[in-house]
Amino acid sequence: MTIDPEDLRTAEQRLARLHERLGGIAYGGDYNPEQWPRKVWLEDAQLMQQAGVNLVTLAVFSWSRLETADGVFDFAWLDEVMDLMHAHGIGVDLATPDAVPPAWLIAQHPDILPELADGATFGFGSRQHFDVSHPVYREKSLALAEQMGERYSKHPALCMWHVGNEYGPVSYGRWADKAFREWLQRKYASLEELNQAWSADVWGQVYSDWSQVGAPAQPRTWSNPTRRLDFHRFTSASMLEHFKAERDILRRHTPDLPIVTNFMRFYKNNDYWAWAAEEDAAALDIYPDPRESDAHVAAALNFDLMRSLRNGQPWMVMEQATGAVSQWSVNVSKLPGKMRLGSYQAIAQGADSILFFQWRQAKGGTERYHSAMVGHAGPNTRIFREVCELGQELKTLGGMTGTRSTAKVAIVFDWDCWWALELGNSPRSDLNYAQEVLRFYRPLFDANITVDFVNTKSDLSAYSMVIMPASYLLTDEAAQRFEDHVSDGGRLLVSYLSGIVDESNTIRLGGYPGALRKVLGAWSEEMHPLAGEGEEVKLATADGGTGSASYWMEHLHADGAEVLASYASGRLSRSPAITRNTFGAGTALYISARVDDAFLESLLTFEREAAGIRPELAAPPGVQVRRRTGNGSSFLLVLNHNDGPARVDVRRGGTDRLTGRPLHGAVELEANGVLVLEEFPAEESVPGESER
Ligand code: GAL
Repeated sequence: MTIDPEDLRTAEQRLARLHERLGGIAYGGDYNPEQWPRKVWLEDAQLMQQAGVNLVTLAVFSWSRLETADGVFDFAWLDEVMDLMHAHGIGVDLATPDAVPPAWLIAQHPDILPELADGATFGFGSRQHFDVSHPVYREKSLALAEQMGERYSKHPALCMWHVGNEYGPVSYGRWADKAFREWLQRKYASLEELNQAWSADVWGQVYSDWSQVGAPAQPRTWSNPTRRLDFHRFTSASMLEHFKAERDILRRHTPDLPIVTNFMRFYKNNDYWAWAAEEDAAALDIYPDPRESDAHVAAALNFDLMRSLRNGQPWMVMEQATGAVSQWSVNVSKLPGKMRLGSYQAIAQGADSILFFQWRQAKGGTERYHSAMVGHAGPNTRIFREVCELGQELKTLGGMTGTRSTAKVAIVFDWDCWWALELGNSPRSDLNYAQEVLRFYRPLFDANITVDFVNTKSDLSAYSMVIMPASYLLTDEAAQRFEDHVSDGGRLLVSYLSGIVDESNTIRLGGYPGALRKVLGAWSEEMHPLAGEGEEVKLATADGGTGSASYWMEHLHADGAEVLASYASGRLSRSPAITRNTFGAGTALYISARVDDAFLESLLTFEREAAGIRPELAAPPGVQVRRRTGNGSSFLLVLNHNDGPARVDVRRGGTDRLTGRPLHGAVELEANGVLVLEEFPAEESVPGESER
């Protein structure tokens, strides 16, 4: 289907048009030609063609070469590179180089540099060295975006925009302080309302004039948690405001092109739900550590999060490494086949773009050892061969872009919960929100259950099962939504430290977890972290089973709920540990302790089976299976993360898109092997457990 350029009003249409222009999946990476003499550029373009590259990201760090002095612009070199790319049939994702305000600008306005909470200032010499609230930084970065938009809007190579790079620096300096105060004045109707929300009477912190309110600079001891929560909200919002200002400029010049910025794995500073809503696609930089044998599980969580941020819309791998990175103390290269496997994993989980940092490995500078598509040794290398093979393979995946996955299970992942939970001065200050979410995600991932992520404001109607791992902060409306989900027949699984505080980070009284007490039919009177390393208590289930818990338990009372498991040792012996409540047409489970992995897995399996949720396909351990459907096709992607071969039974059968051959029944995948099966229509296949 050809999209009418006049009809590119939605993000989905803009993305569909992008992939149409690129001929399918986007493949390429960051290209930094300014680091190389001109003679290398032509070789680059030719090698890109050889590798099947169809998209490169230009100018991410080019501010100092594009605006060489205040108001003095030099676009000639970029014009040349854009033309060269176009001449070789390669599209450009043009970046606005906001991440690197140049030395001349910092010399003129040293207070652009971000200030730390303790008053120290970051120096020039790295990147991301700006306070986004600084008026001159904003003015200059937006002016450059305007110039770039105007200059390149009609350039035939331009396919999309990449605003900034990994937004995230936090500043506590003068400009942030002022902007925070203004943000608070917009948020709270009066200073008294702020005093109430911040519980300012605790430790005598009542403000009597707005001029006294500011960024939470380093306090003598612990500082007000609601002030810090609001500061988290403000920093995410202020950076997003900058992104939006720039997006609006670029949109005006090119209403038909996608505009994104790149996200990071488990990145706490920015609320990616709010961000993704303002972009055309979620785009992720992902660098799993090859030293961790299960790194693909945390990567999977991040991939599913990206897929969920815009409601299932395909997302982009904006950066990954071909081999080693350079920022850790030991940087191990990916084994042969792992880069391909990781790329297909992202595609299986909804990505339509596979891009790398970067095209050519730098010979100097901080990241001179970070791998690239073309390394220091040149193209005659294993990595370049793998890059070329993958580039050619991806061309065979026509029809895949734009397809989507369906999930019946949702896990809550919410930045307000994250920020509020990790402010310290709580029963456990070592709690890691992302790890809590990962604990619930992992057993579902292992069982090949497709999971969506939602936030506390999401519509839950598509899900038969919803999991809340440490969903600490719930507004009244959010609590009501989860309650309604259960009364309408849904299954809710709630872990400890959920629903504890309200929007102002104030504890909900009357027993924990205040916001969910009613739906859970249970309440806790006291929290009991288990202090010792490896300290465990026993659990006994009502049906004679056993298990254990560590790290966290609660003095829980069933108030209408059935007790599924009780503590069988320790100070809470014989008290309930896990309860299930029937509420309306659904059920709500409360897991008040950190139960052991096997126990958690069996709980999740029981719940999802009761909800009728089955794996995409029965598969041995370490084999990931996902399905993407749309464009009249159904694609089953099978990924062998094991170091040895593995077998699956594809009963429905289909066409192996990488070989073009029909397949049916048992299939053996080699170590790191990938199967992309375009399934035969369901009615022609043998019915089996794989059917949904
Ligand atoms: C990303 C960043 C890239 C590059 C890459 C590899 O976080 O956006 O510019 O530095 O990491 O380390």
